[in-house]
Amino acid sequence: MAEHDLSEKRKEYFLDTPQKNDTFFLKGSSGYDWGFRNRLARIFNPKSGRTVMLAIDHGYFQGPTTGLERIDVTIKPLVPFADALMCTRGILRSVINPESNNPVVMRASGGPSILKDLSNEQIAVNMEDALRMNVSAVAVQVFVGGEYETQTINNMTRLVDEGMRYGMPVLGVTAVGKDLARDSRYIGLASRMLAELGAAIIKTYYCDDFEKVVASCPVPIIIAGGKKLTEIDALTMARNAIDAGASGVDMGRNIFQSDAPQAMITAVRRVVHENMSAVQAFELYTELKNL
Ligand code: R5P
Repeated sequence: MAEHDLSEKRKEYFLDTPQKNDTFFLKGSSGYDWGFRNRLARIFNPKSGRTVMLAIDHGYFQGPTTGLERIDVTIKPLVPFADALMCTRGILRSVINPESNNPVVMRASGGPSILKDLSNEQIAVNMEDALRMNVSAVAVQVFVGGEYETQTINNMTRLVDEGMRYGMPVLGVTAVGKDLARDSRYIGLASRMLAELGAAIIKTYYCDDFEKVVASCPVPIIIAGGKKLTEIDALTMARNAIDAGASGVDMGRNIFQSDAPQAMITAVRRVVHENMSAVQAFELYTELKNL
């Protein structure tokens, strides 16, 4: 039986204090339902408004990628440093410890291997399984300008529709095919299209005039790291992207293929969350690497 409120303390209704309406910290994201925003607030640090997402999903089309041959050995030590993990459901269930508690951005499109036309992707995870894995977003690749443009856009919009039903954000990945440019005109077109069609977060590549890409995209943009660069170049790219308005990075090879992955992700975090310069971050990387 429920107990009566027998407290002798005086009730306090703060009658002179109107309830505040909190605004949500992420660009273009105030209109979503509570669960949806709660998931976004797990991926993006509400203090800095940014994220360092560790991308380890490369095996879904290229098998045992250099640095990811044994995720249980090489990636597990990096997990505590990542604000979010981008991975496949196979790796999540087989290798990632559920106690790690990182928000997960689940790779939810795929199909062709590197031996085939990579753009011919289908949806690879349904929403029910994404919810079962308690993920914080699903990621789908869209090949704007590619042969399978409409099919891959349809993959995304189907996931957006299902995601809206259950409070699940969709991260739209602007894939760059071998025949597609990586300039601000193309990246700006692809990013804006994905946002207009319902993606809550855009992942794309850094390019010149990136501030124009960010300005014309109504939702947060994070950048992929791309192929392995020198550490100073990767940190400089992250710095430039953040300065241009990016909301973080979804970085893979430039972390896990580094000579010192833990030092590198620490340096990237300082750039993204603490506005450290690329040079200072590289000094930190060198110092940590030599410890
Ligand atoms: C491609 O395999 C995935 O979308 C990666 O998650 C993405 O490219 C980020 O990884 P990287 O920083 O290695 O480009």
